[in-house]
Amino acid sequence: MEFQGKWIRPKADLGDICPVFRKEWKKEEETEKAELLITAVGVYEARLNGVRVGDYVLAPGWTSYRTRLQYQVYDITELLKEDNCLEITVGKGWARSPMPGFVENEEKRQRQAQPCGVFAELYLTDSRGNRTVIGTDGSWQYAESPVRFSEIYDGEWYDAQVRPIQWQNAVVFEKPCDNLIPQEGEKICEKERVRAKRVFVTPAGETVVDFGQEVTGYVEFTVDARAGQEVRILHGEVLDAEGNFYRENYREAKAQLRYICREGVQTWHPVLTFFGFRYLKLEEFPGEAKPEQFTAIAVYSDLRQTGRLRCGVPELNRLFSNIFWGQRGNFLDVPTDCPQRDERLGWTGDAEVFVKTASYNFDVEKFFIKWLHDLAADQYENGAVGHVVPDYLQNSTPSAAWGDAATICPWQIYQTYGSQKVLADQFESMKKWVDYITHATDTPNLWTGGTHYGDWLGLDAPSGSYKGSSREELIASAFYAHSTQLVIRAGHVLGEDVTEYEALYQAIVAAFRAAYPEYRTQTEYTVAVWFGLAEHPQKSADELAELVKKDGCQLRTGFVGTPFLLHVLSSYGHADLAYTLLLRREYPSWLYPVTKGATTIWEHWDGIMEDGGFWSADMNSFNHYAYGSVADWIYEEAAGIRPLEPGFAQAQVAPKPDRRLGWLEASIETRHGLVRSRWEYQDGGIRYEIEAEMPVSVVIDGTKRQVPAGSYIFWGSEK
Ligand code: BGC
Repeated sequence: MEFQGKWIRPKADLGDICPVFRKEWKKEEETEKAELLITAVGVYEARLNGVRVGDYVLAPGWTSYRTRLQYQVYDITELLKEDNCLEITVGKGWARSPMPGFVENEEKRQRQAQPCGVFAELYLTDSRGNRTVIGTDGSWQYAESPVRFSEIYDGEWYDAQVRPIQWQNAVVFEKPCDNLIPQEGEKICEKERVRAKRVFVTPAGETVVDFGQEVTGYVEFTVDARAGQEVRILHGEVLDAEGNFYRENYREAKAQLRYICREGVQTWHPVLTFFGFRYLKLEEFPGEAKPEQFTAIAVYSDLRQTGRLRCGVPELNRLFSNIFWGQRGNFLDVPTDCPQRDERLGWTGDAEVFVKTASYNFDVEKFFIKWLHDLAADQYENGAVGHVVPDYLQNSTPSAAWGDAATICPWQIYQTYGSQKVLADQFESMKKWVDYITHATDTPNLWTGGTHYGDWLGLDAPSGSYKGSSREELIASAFYAHSTQLVIRAGHVLGEDVTEYEALYQAIVAAFRAAYPEYRTQTEYTVAVWFGLAEHPQKSADELAELVKKDGCQLRTGFVGTPFLLHVLSSYGHADLAYTLLLRREYPSWLYPVTKGATTIWEHWDGIMEDGGFWSADMNSFNHYAYGSVADWIYEEAAGIRPLEPGFAQAQVAPKPDRRLGWLEASIETRHGLVRSRWEYQDGGIRYEIEAEMPVSVVIDGTKRQVPAGSYIFWGSEK
């Protein structure tokens, strides 16, 4: 696209204060249609004649800006008046943020030093189809806006008494436009409103608002105040053991709001930042705060919920709800590890672990296609994949299971939605990743050497370490095999020649079997069996079951083993043990956090310990979706729904019921229609209800039936 606008910025740096840019024009009689294209270095909010343009929040979103900066195009015809005034306020957003809080690097310094720029074009079309373009240039003006500060980690400060005055001409600056791309991902918008449940005073005397649910977004409050009075708010996820407000786990992220009131009753929420929170501490608030004055607005990518899970165990239903909320809270344009502390990064490992669950819960095809384009854009020349995408860590030494997001995510998106586009788009990147390992390893056909996260947060970690005790090189080699296999599969779908990778795969499997004839930990067993590397999978799965029992029917796995542990058990005849793990209520387990009041998924199985104390002060997120990946086991194994052909053109429903649940119902709205599976223990038998809008292969009590689309009831026996 040929652009006519130019990048503009304030003449002098306004420091923390967010500039507002302005353009005024008179409507020509003949104007029939008006459109507006905008992007910015930061995040922007646009208003035309005082009315917000569009419902996109935090535009232009977060991409690998160097090569890919999205712009949005809005139809503004309806907002036009005789005299028009367009105002665009720009905050630091992700583009000029000090992210991540725990790393200093040159790229970060340069990022923060960028001018606060905006780029816009107005298209005014008359009845004969003639188009006038008004692009940003030196005739646009700017002034200080009421937003005195705004940034992703630290929050926002708004002065409602400030009116932009002292307008000055903006300055054109050199900045290429070749990285500008049309909006590619889902729109980020306000998706849900959660009313405050209570306002209370803690033992320490703090006034705290509780929404009863952790959300990602911002609070909207209404206050009756005198001009100049202040509102000061801090955000928190949990209360401490004494019931006091707690926020140490936000680390460097200040996550605060400051609002200076005008006279009278006023309602406000920030627009250029977001927080992960359940609680607010009101450091200052005019008058006596009441719950009805506060609403938490959940902001995330405009994803359509496609999956539903319900069963007869209330705590499990809470877990399901927490998994969905965990996804809402971390699918804000980029799949992030967490939404609150000084991190909020697109950690590749977390995304890879969760992608299957994510793709059943919500329609995330577009969301992942955009993020995977960023992954490829940030991939290093030699094929290395950064730890986070967009690559704010600038770390070119990749870790196994994190970098493998390059192959695992596209393959899963293809499996769930059935369109080859994602594979076609990512194929080069997938191959480059495998080639990287081939060149980087110290040992041919295995992945040895390098630095890895291992089985991150595995419970069998030696004291003081975050890494479980599974052998890192075993994990790395297993993922090397798996990624190679996915390149082969993708190649077959696309009709590409992958003979070289086929030979490589055979060699890796042979080398793996020679190097690792036996396994020592739950995670080692799990990946060896799940990736098809174990020579005698049934025997290994049986040994894994024994090991889990020896460990007191407790999981010991971390990021790497957890997503597949239950799958391996139930696929090899140990479904009852898988359910035992799922239903366990004591630490460590999925339900333990639920018994502690969790409303999202925790980073650590014991984020809050039995005695109410915290696992740690600095690595303790209460909204980390990774372990929520257990939901894909519920869909695929417990309810038995899985695609037999990509996109569910053909589905399988092979439920594995368990009496302890009483009943379970799961459904997925697929590209080929709904598929729903329900089972319930009744009158000494099990009643199965299956509904599918595509042909389905039903497996009950070991009997397989191929049936056309329709609704069916079957009766099965109890084991
Ligand atoms: C993040 C993780 C991430 C990890 C890398 C953490 O700080 O929060 O979820 O995958 O680092 O090991």
